[in-house]
Amino acid sequence: MNWRKLRTFLLTVLVLCLIPASRYYQIDLPLLQFLRGSRHVDPFSLHLSGEFVENNLGTEQDPDGSVTVRMIAQQYLFIPHCILVPAGVPVHLRITSADAVHSLTINGTDYAVKVLPATISEAQLQFPRPGEYKMPCREFCGAGHYAMRSVLKVVPREQFPALRPEERGGCAAR
Ligand code: CUA
Repeated sequence: MNWRKLRTFLLTVLVLCLIPASRYYQIDLPLLQFLRGSRHVDPFSLHLSGEFVENNLGTEQDPDGSVTVRMIAQQYLFIPHCILVPAGVPVHLRITSADAVHSLTINGTDYAVKVLPATISEAQLQFPRPGEYKMPCREFCGAGHYAMRSVLKVVPREQFPALRPEERGGCAAR
């Protein structure tokens, strides 16, 4: 093989390698989301669009009587800072991080949910009795880690109010 042929061969290989590399960036968003899975979420646009916009956070009642709780963890707080749920019904938790790795724990229970940026962590919770629980972060996430906490208030099922969307985000005057 002479040098000219070798050079042509190497150039051809190089060009062939570049084609898939350049095509990767042309993958459109739905396909990219399919490849990453439905649990992927962009940590930089949480507040702007999608499931975790502000008025979607907190407790939402589902048609079957269960509730869904959506939260964001960020240095150094959980949003919302106070969560209201009814006793004795399934609680579907969906939480993501805007920055570092956190861990949402519920004092007095075995629940611990690792929270990662760009990922929706899901957990199924249930609280048999009314009560109030502190929910501290248990993954060291920086200078304010030890003050990072939220509160969970479990109320009797019949006292759980029909929350309007603007009331979902917290415990209001309770
Ligand atoms: Cu968040 Cu420690």
